[in-house]
Amino acid sequence: MPNVQFPNLYDNRKSDETMSQKPRIVITRRMTHAVMERARREFDAFIPDDDRMDGEAVLAKLEELNAEGLFFTSGTKLDAKTIARLPNSMRIAATCSVGYDHIDLAAAKARGLVVTNTPDVLTNATADLAFMLILCASRRAFEYERTMRQGWGRYYGMSEMLGIDVSNKTLGIIGMGRIGKAVARRARGFDMKVLYHNRKQATEAGEATYVANLHDMLKQADVVSLNLPAAPGGAPILDRAALVAMKPGAVVVNTARGSLIDEAALYEGLTNGRLYAAGLDVMAGEPNFDKRFAALNNVFLTPHMGSATVEARTAMGGKCLDNLAAVLSGGAPIDPV
Ligand code: DGY
Repeated sequence: MPNVQFPNLYDNRKSDETMSQKPRIVITRRMTHAVMERARREFDAFIPDDDRMDGEAVLAKLEELNAEGLFFTSGTKLDAKTIARLPNSMRIAATCSVGYDHIDLAAAKARGLVVTNTPDVLTNATADLAFMLILCASRRAFEYERTMRQGWGRYYGMSEMLGIDVSNKTLGIIGMGRIGKAVARRARGFDMKVLYHNRKQATEAGEATYVANLHDMLKQADVVSLNLPAAPGGAPILDRAALVAMKPGAVVVNTARGSLIDEAALYEGLTNGRLYAAGLDVMAGEPNFDKRFAALNNVFLTPHMGSATVEARTAMGGKCLDNLAAVLSGGAPIDPV
């Protein structure tokens, strides 16, 4: 199959300014052109040639450059041990993500390290992907796609390969923050009734109805979307009891974090006929996820791509640079966590 090339969004030209007075930062992953150009203009920035820098390589580069700031992603864990090994020059760690479960915030605070994230700018991209998963899981997109790539060859009968409607169904959102609200707005375009469960009732939740008890909501929802942050090492909110409480034939969609679902119980629900389907962008243990899910026809999988649009990634990178510039020029962080 021809491998179609998408336009190159990366630019790895090295800066020719070597001994500048600009703030010294290490960027752990290549970004879009716009972000890289700005990083080179405003910072003394190390930018890798590939996307493979591991934790040890990041620490070594920070040390080598006596870096003051780190621009990193959820692929780099800033646990207490790593934070203890940061060079003394380090003042800010700007994660290019809204989630920060890969960072030990208590250790960062104790070390006086400022931590920032990138809220808002990836809301629409992530909500779009959540809705893509809702539609793909409900309408058997994986099987249709596979059929076409295998050559198709005969019309299906009127009762074969049927999916289920999304329109006029009930959506249950767990976590009514920015992304949950954006998913709710999209659901209204599909005439869905929207329920949500949150630690407390949300403001500006539109026509969505708050359900204080999670299991009460799960009993009513045809589709459940996870849109809440995960605590490092926290227990799954969709545990076995919650999955068993779900309405029979429900669809589960996760664009938040894999640790929020008990995957063994989810697998059982998907294979014993209790759940209709799942759409999963995030998995426990990713990127080395439980491969049994890849063998299921009723699972639509994507590799943690919620914010993966040119627009969102450029805006996220811009936010990281804004935070690094603010803190390294002596100001307050814009998006502290
Ligand atoms: C986020 O921004 O948290 C995304 O899930 C990427 O990690």
